Amino acid sequence: MKYYINEPYLKGKEKEYVLDVIESGWLSVKGKHTKIFEEKFAEMVGVKYALAVQSGTAALHTALLALGVKKGDKVVIPNYTCAGNISSVLQCQATPIILDVEKDTFGLDAELFEEFLKYEKPKVVMIVHIYGFPAKDTKRIAEICKRENIFLLEDCCEAHGSELEGKKLGSFGDISVFSVRSEKMIAVGEGGLILTDNKELIDKALYWASRASPYRGDEHPYWWKYSYEDVGMNYLMPHLLGAIGRAQIENFDEILARKRKVGEKYKSCLQNIEGIKLQKKIQNSNPCYWLNMIIFEDEPKERVREIGKQLLKEQIEIRPAFWPLGDQKIFREFAFGNQDIGNHLFEKGLVLPSSVFLSKNDCEGVEEIVDVLLKIKNEL
Ligand SMILES: Cc1ncc(COP(=O)(O)O)c(C=O)c1O
Repeated sequence: MKYYINEPYLKGKEKEYVLDVIESGWLSVKGKHTKIFEEKFAEMVGVKYALAVQSGTAALHTALLALGVKKGDKVVIPNYTCAGNISSVLQCQATPIILDVEKDTFGLDAELFEEFLKYEKPKVVMIVHIYGFPAKDTKRIAEICKRENIFLLEDCCEAHGSELEGKKLGSFGDISVFSVRSEKMIAVGEGGLILTDNKELIDKALYWASRASPYRGDEHPYWWKYSYEDVGMNYLMPHLLGAIGRAQIENFDEILARKRKVGEKYKSCLQNIEGIKLQKKIQNSNPCYWLNMIIFEDEPKERVREIGKQLLKEQIEIRPAFWPLGDQKIFREFAFGNQDIGNHLFEKGLVLPSSVFLSKNDCEGVEEIVDVLLKIKNEL
C-alpha cells in the first residue's frame, strides 16, 4: 500500500523502555513502566485513576463488572460501533439494547435514549465517540444519567486527546475506556485502559481484572494468595506493553498535532465538494481526528463499494463503515427501533487513510488521495 489507514508512530523512547524491561527481568503485570503509563494516561485525560489491561474489549468488560452489571441488567449501546461494545455486555450475561445513532457525529441519539427510558431503565448507557469526534449528545446524555441514576460509560477507544468544552473525553462519565491496540493513536499492540475518578470503581476494576481474588499483598496473610470470591479474569497489561505505552504517551502531543493536521487537511479539501459529507465537529469541540470518513450522500451503495475497490487498486487503503450491530443476524434481537442512520452510514461511508505520517510535507499525501478519489468518482 502507498497510503495506510493508520500506522503507529514509534519515534520516542519505545526501544529504551522495552530494553529496560528485558534487563529488569520483570515481564509480568504491575510493572514499573506500566504504572507510569497509567499515571500519565490519567493525567492526560484529567481523571484520578487508570488501570491498563489487555484490550479495549477487556476494558469494557472490566468496567461493566466494576459497575456491578450482571444477569438481567440492561445496557444501552449505539449501533454504529465495534463488536466489543456488545460482546462485553453479553459476557456479563446482561442484555444489550441497541439504539440508532444521530447523523452528525454518529454518536448515541439522546432522543432515542429518552424514548427507551419510557419503557425501561437500563443500569448503564455507553456513549461512543466515533473516529475521535465528540458525540453530539454527550452532555445531554450525561445529564439524563445523573437525573435517572444510570451509570454513564464513555467509550473513548477511538478518541485519545479529543476535547469537548475544554475537557478531555473520558472525563464525562462515571467510568471510561480506551483501546491502545496497534492502530490507535497511543498504540502498544493490543491493550486498553479503564479510567475513573472513583476510587471504589478502580479498586473493583482491579479486582475483576486480576482473577477476582481479595488478596492484596501485605494487607493479607500470604495464604490468601489463591483465594477467590468470584469468577474473574486475567486481564492486566504485561510489562513490555506498558513500556511501549509509556513511551507513546510521552510523545503524544506530537502524535495528536500530526493527526489533527491530517484531519483539518481532509476537511479543507473535501468540505465544499457536492455530494460528499464529513463527520461533524460540534461547537466547542476539538476532535483528535483518529479516522477520516466521508459519506457519499447521493451515491447508491454499489457505486460506493466500487469506489472503495478502485482506491484499493490504486494502493490507497480504505476501510468500510461499521456494519450496524442492530442489523446483524446474531444481534438483531437486541435492536430497539429502526437502525436507519447506522445503515445509511454503512452503505454510503468510506474511511480514508489517516496515518500520522500523512502530515509530512504539508499533507501532500492527503491532496493526492483526494485527487485520486474524485477522479474515480467522476469517471465511474
Ligand atoms: C469504539 C471502540 N470500542 C471498543 C473497541 C475495542 O477495542 P479493542 O480492539 O482494543 O478490543 C474498539 C476497537 O478497537 C473501538 O473502536
